[in-house]
Amino acid sequence: MQPLHAPFPATRFRRTRKSPALRALVAETTLAPSDFIWPVFVRDGEDVAEPIASMPGVNRLSVDRVVAAAREAHSLGIPAICLFPYTDPALKTADCAEAWNPENLSNRATRAIKEAVPDIAVMTDVALDPYNIDGHDGFVEDGVIVNDRTVEALVKQTLSQARAGADIIGPSDMMDGRIGAMRAALEAEGFDTVCILSYAAKYASAFYGPFRDAVGASGALKGDKTTYQMNPANGDEALRLVARDLSEGADMVMVKPGMAYLDICARVKEAFGAPTFAYQVSGEYAMLSGAAERGWLDGERVMMESLMAFRRAGCDGILTYFAPAAAKLLNG
Ligand code: PBG
Repeated sequence: MQPLHAPFPATRFRRTRKSPALRALVAETTLAPSDFIWPVFVRDGEDVAEPIASMPGVNRLSVDRVVAAAREAHSLGIPAICLFPYTDPALKTADCAEAWNPENLSNRATRAIKEAVPDIAVMTDVALDPYNIDGHDGFVEDGVIVNDRTVEALVKQTLSQARAGADIIGPSDMMDGRIGAMRAALEAEGFDTVCILSYAAKYASAFYGPFRDAVGASGALKGDKTTYQMNPANGDEALRLVARDLSEGADMVMVKPGMAYLDICARVKEAFGAPTFAYQVSGEYAMLSGAAERGWLDGERVMMESLMAFRRAGCDGILTYFAPAAAKLLNG
């Protein structure tokens, strides 16, 4: 093999690191507010911003405040916002009917955003966990999370989100066959321009802990999600899942969590060239901002470094709770 560079001193890598101008000139990767999808938590009420203990700086927002957040995101150049409802425990049932209630929190927030800030893309979450008394993403029968009956419910949830005006549907449930079923239903109902961003390679991860607090699912969850989410030991399986979801009609795919799975991001982008996203999840946010709060890390720098790393790994974009803070820094 040819050496990749001439020997010293013909090659001195420090020449192109000498000044900000030269470093900018040879930078291989860019990061911009247009790379972000901002996940926000929605709750009932008016003019409420309720802090989430394990996610310093992140709040559960009432619908009016979510609209204000969407306005802010749009003015910062963030193209999309992603909604996660904190559902009143009284509305959690075994049949999860609240998931496709046209008046549920997610649908109300979607309509309010699309009316006030039509140019921002709204992404919604498809999975039963916010509505399920068991806290699982699918129906539980005799202790088993059942697949096919869950897919039927996910299709109903998908259509109710599309009717509310969602631009991007984000199935995070990891049931088999859901993308094909959702795509067919969307086409049949005339929603042929609604995108699906599949949580294709979603691992059974302990990094979701703070999120489950944020949406009020921690207390409810019985057992774990290892029979439907991926084993962190697996990489080839992620490629098979992405291939499957793209063939069933996903427009974009996601790897989740992010930082511990950059190898998967790189392999997915390389193998398919499809729009590829990583989700820098709640636990990653908590690690970085928790340490920054204590003065153990430089919060701004680790935030920007971690986001750039996703881009370097090949991601087209990142779902991140840092979206507004990072966009502000990038906009100067
Ligand atoms: C569940 C869902 C989860 C997240 C997004 N959708 C958690 C889970 O699978 O238990 C996690 C996001 C995060 O941790 O930031 N449908």
